[in-house]
Amino acid sequence: MAGNWKMYKNAAETTRFFEQFRGLVERSEHCEIVICPTCLSLPAAVAAAQGSRIGIGAQNLFWAKEGAYTGEVSGPMIRSAGASHVIIGHSERRQYFGETNESVLKKTLAALEAGLTPIVCVGETLEQRETGRTETVIVDHCQGCTSGLTADQFAKILFAYEPVWAIGTGKTATPEIAADAHRVVRNHVRGVYGQASADQLRILYGGSVKPDNIKKLMAQPEIDGALVGGASLDPISFASIVNF
Ligand code: PGA
Repeated sequence: MAGNWKMYKNAAETTRFFEQFRGLVERSEHCEIVICPTCLSLPAAVAAAQGSRIGIGAQNLFWAKEGAYTGEVSGPMIRSAGASHVIIGHSERRQYFGETNESVLKKTLAALEAGLTPIVCVGETLEQRETGRTETVIVDHCQGCTSGLTADQFAKILFAYEPVWAIGTGKTATPEIAADAHRVVRNHVRGVYGQASADQLRILYGGSVKPDNIKKLMAQPEIDGALVGGASLDPISFASIVNF
């Protein structure tokens, strides 16, 4: 279960969140928990999560290790701040910051090299869904974002299926729609890396996941977890998603 905090919570707010959240998920051993704050709040999150089972992730990285790239943060920097995960290719980054399959692939390789677990996001827009291109877009994202990865590298990544029309809109994909999309991802992976890789791949669903819809989503065998935006900002709400 991963929380994507987007551009919310400074360091003090991050610390406060953990004071409450830690106790609420202390006994939640059925899943991994990851929280992805802004880069500036990473050290506060890492400190506040110390000694717990909660992993910390970044929301983006740049593919070079260092250099003249004003405004960017590298994988080794994120790793040295104590993070274990990084979200890559979130649709908001594709939409507002020109992220493409090519940049997502470069960033995925950089994350792996830095020892971070990439959470690679794929998913179609409303227009693509309404014009019957959902499957093509998902396969294109999966293919483009991981092309050339060895089976060993691929085994270290997580996918998040996030239909753009469901993000922050309150419109959750039905569990069946989400499961169908996850099957498209898994079939593609089976074709490229074989049955064992497809079976072990974890695919998170993201898009308006809330405490009141998580149970039905997780009842789908195809859905291995959730990437949660808005509902991860409140400790009680995210804890009840974790403890579905
Ligand atoms: P949401 O965001 O849960 O607020 O829809 C999900 C995401 O963008 O990862």
